Amino acid sequence: MIEQPFALVTGTTGFIAARLVPALLAEGWRVRATGRRPRPHDLALEAEYQAADLVVDDLAALCAGITHVFHLAGASSSKSSQDEMDRNNIVATSRLLDAAAGGRLDRFVHMSSTSIYGEERQLPVPVREDVEPSASRGYGKAKWGAEQEVWARGRAGLPVVVLRPVTVYGPGATKLLASAILDTAIERAAGLPRLGVAPEPMEQRLVHIDDLLRACAHLAVVPGVDGRAFNVVDGIYPSSHDVAAVLAGCFGMEVEVGGAGLDEDRRRKVHEHFVANGLEPAILFTPDRLRLMTKTNRNNRLSTEALESTGFRFACTDFAGAVADNIDWYRSKRWLPAPA
Ligand SMILES: NC(=O)c1ccc[n+]([C@@H]2O[C@H](COP(=O)([O-])OP(=O)(O)OC[C@H]3O[C@@H](n4cnc5c(N)ncnc54)[C@H](OP(=O)(O)O)[C@@H]3O)[C@@H](O)[C@H]2O)c1
Repeated sequence: MIEQPFALVTGTTGFIAARLVPALLAEGWRVRATGRRPRPHDLALEAEYQAADLVVDDLAALCAGITHVFHLAGASSSKSSQDEMDRNNIVATSRLLDAAAGGRLDRFVHMSSTSIYGEERQLPVPVREDVEPSASRGYGKAKWGAEQEVWARGRAGLPVVVLRPVTVYGPGATKLLASAILDTAIERAAGLPRLGVAPEPMEQRLVHIDDLLRACAHLAVVPGVDGRAFNVVDGIYPSSHDVAAVLAGCFGMEVEVGGAGLDEDRRRKVHEHFVANGLEPAILFTPDRLRLMTKTNRNNRLSTEALESTGFRFACTDFAGAVADNIDWYRSKRWLPAPA
């Protein structure tokens, strides 16, 4: 009889891991979920739950009997100081690896980020996973520090694999593209017929949550990937103007290249009005409008040859359709107001 695989999933009070749990359960995995906070009310009943802070708590019980670890807990710059990012990425990963190494582990799947490559020093593009990274910001440095912990245990014989996704969007996301969707809803509700976007088009890179979850489950079991890292990006690279056109289209607006949109004060007032009328303020409101689309990255293009050579295929390539579905999901949760 084949033994049922038993996954420990960290970070399940956060965006990606909360969605990985039902995906693994649907594939027949036994799942133990963990996060710092009490059991989330919407966690599937079939999943066990243990609350633990990976930086300070004893992790032996968490790792008991586990065959696979999906380590998604971590801290990002939008919520944490540099010290918190270092502790919750580097120290937490190191302690979890030590605890997991004591058992009979088939694979440790670690969620890193393409932020480790940095944006300032020109790397050979499309960026391959074997390039020497050059993280520009604190978050990328903390994620690279966490990877060093993973690679050290890998060299000592632990079966480790690392995913490096770009910006993740889709149901459950609360930042980046989600904030840009909220910005568009705000300006539509304020009566603007056009969505203004900066004149210079900037290339974006995104991956849909469903593709990332499939990549996680795939890399946990596919042979021949121990000790390797994999970029995860839907290879469509829309420009900021393309993204604006999709967002505007979903809200019945036109795009205005060079238009400035509303100032922060007026946007904030519309957002407060939304919340006063029952909006769940889950999506991050950012002082800068369409903030996602203001960043340039000279290393934007990434190679996905390594992932595809393992037999993985990206499925979410209809960006406009995925954004429309995502907006419907936000409305169903009252994270966005119903259309007027
Ligand atoms: N979202 C993206 O676009 C993206 C892109 C590339 C890579 N990633 C990586 O993917 C992973 C998941 O991202 P996400 O967007 O789902 O993040 P998230 O929503 O911020 O969730 C992070 C999770 O980590 C937990 N956590 C942080 N420090 C912890 C600690 N010391 N002990 C135990 N749990 C701890 C948080 O717990 P609390 O709820 O208690 O805070 C939360 O459950 C992260 O490693 C991130 O770096 C994300």
